[in-house]
Amino acid sequence: MKEQIVTLLAEHLPSLTEAEVRELIEIPPNPEMGDFAFPCFRLAKTLRKAPPVIAQELHDSITLPEFVEELRVVGAYLNFFIKKEVFADTLLSAVRNNNFGASTEGEGHTICIDYSSPNVAKNFHVGHLRTTIIGNSLYKIYSKLGYHVERINHLGDWGTQFGKLIVAYKKWGSEDAVKEKGIEELMRLYVLFHQEADKDPALEDEARFWFAEMERGNEEALQIWQWFVEISLEEFKRTYRLLGMEFDHYMGESFYRDKTEDVVNRLSTAGLLTESEGAKIVDLEAYDMAPCLILKNDGSSIYATRDLAAIFYRKENYNFDKCLYVTGQEQRLHFQQVFKVVELLGNEWAKDGLVHIPYGLVSLGGEKLSSRDGNVIYAEDILLEAISKIKEIIQQKNPDLEDKDTVARHIGVGAVIFNDLYNQRIKDVSFRWEHLLNFDGETGPYVQYTYARCSSILRKVEDFDASADVDVSFLTDEASLGLLKELGRFPAVVKEAATRYEPSVVARFSIAVAQAFNHYYTVNRINVEDPAERTARVMLVDITRRVLRDALDLLGITCVEKM
Ligand code: ARG
Repeated sequence: MKEQIVTLLAEHLPSLTEAEVRELIEIPPNPEMGDFAFPCFRLAKTLRKAPPVIAQELHDSITLPEFVEELRVVGAYLNFFIKKEVFADTLLSAVRNNNFGASTEGEGHTICIDYSSPNVAKNFHVGHLRTTIIGNSLYKIYSKLGYHVERINHLGDWGTQFGKLIVAYKKWGSEDAVKEKGIEELMRLYVLFHQEADKDPALEDEARFWFAEMERGNEEALQIWQWFVEISLEEFKRTYRLLGMEFDHYMGESFYRDKTEDVVNRLSTAGLLTESEGAKIVDLEAYDMAPCLILKNDGSSIYATRDLAAIFYRKENYNFDKCLYVTGQEQRLHFQQVFKVVELLGNEWAKDGLVHIPYGLVSLGGEKLSSRDGNVIYAEDILLEAISKIKEIIQQKNPDLEDKDTVARHIGVGAVIFNDLYNQRIKDVSFRWEHLLNFDGETGPYVQYTYARCSSILRKVEDFDASADVDVSFLTDEASLGLLKELGRFPAVVKEAATRYEPSVVARFSIAVAQAFNHYYTVNRINVEDPAERTARVMLVDITRRVLRDALDLLGITCVEKM
């Protein structure tokens, strides 16, 4: 209908293209102002008339199409009122489609998403929780649009820190302690190394020696390192399991250790490498950036070198249209430098094919989060705490619920995910248990509760047939049509979330749908006597349930049928 209005207006406005008209059309905030509005301000200049006059003239010259009930001039706006039944019918048949929200626009295109990527022998902290949640949601969103997505975990599993760990382990560690305490013990050894190295700087040389041995392929060194990687991965995977998230590739920095030489060769052939105090760099002064360090003065590669190698590897093996990097905003410069270097090597695709997706910090909002040793906060502990708090609530309110553990896990984890994705990703996320676990705020539990309510209504209507014909005259009241309009936005919402790399668009949409549904449910009886009316009312419950489920799925949240 919007498209027909666009064509209609464009016919009467030779000075605007259809695209410009489309861009101008608004959806008024409340239905008293119509279903579509066309503001005439921008036309004043070209037409040399006051906007309200233009609106009036358009009003007088347009022949109303069949589906428009009324055209009204309000100030500088031309407001279209769609015939309610036609509107309800159009929306309902769109939303009833099984693939509603999905599209095929991405077919034949590949997106790589580099996210999560925690560091071996360090804890999986709240910052990594954010990249994991955002990256996973982008994966779901792009998949919904038909893109092929490669989910890549670029583990921090290579670098001088492992030389230090080997030294510390050999001097002060034990196999049993590492086996028993895992990452916690590795972090203890790492801290201890730094304390001791302050007193005895020779330890630093020893650490450098051991990392160099790793790079040379020393078996003993690699064996210890490999063991640390396995132990860390085991813990990381526990967190992924709680979240219900997976990757297509665990390809950490170490994967590229034999591929950095090729990067150095390419750069040097292109004449881009310069010496600086014994190190090799790419000068980026012309682009107002600090130089990109490629090789340290001892010849070893660094984080950026391995990122360059990874980009070429991914381009060759996955032929991506875009490669997205979800990390904290403190890595902005790093990615600008790396992307620029790729571009300088003559790769035009680097310009819009490589995208850094930064996000804000996690602030603890004055709340005490339990932590294992006073300062490091493990993502796993946050998830477990959310789950146990939800379990307590269930215990109080609905002690007879079946399968309480699964329900508590989905609601608890869902609450944490939703809290992360509800605001624009660049904003800081604050953590307040009493907010994020609230069942009637703008929260995950609220949306999940609304979903469960839909399910419960449907369970009670025995004769409901999801493929039945619907008499839409029962769905033209303000609440029903309002709900249909919300639901109808889903495809545009998914698209916008993808274009802006912004899962919050979907999170906000799910809240809007839940609110519209709860309003619908308050003002309308659903399980009414009249079969035709009942079918119409229940149908709306059924499609709301599906859209809520699909929207939450795009965020990485699993719905439960009862809670
Ligand atoms: N391991 C890094 C960190 O924890 C993130 C890696 C991001 N991905 C990349 N290709 N650089 O900060």
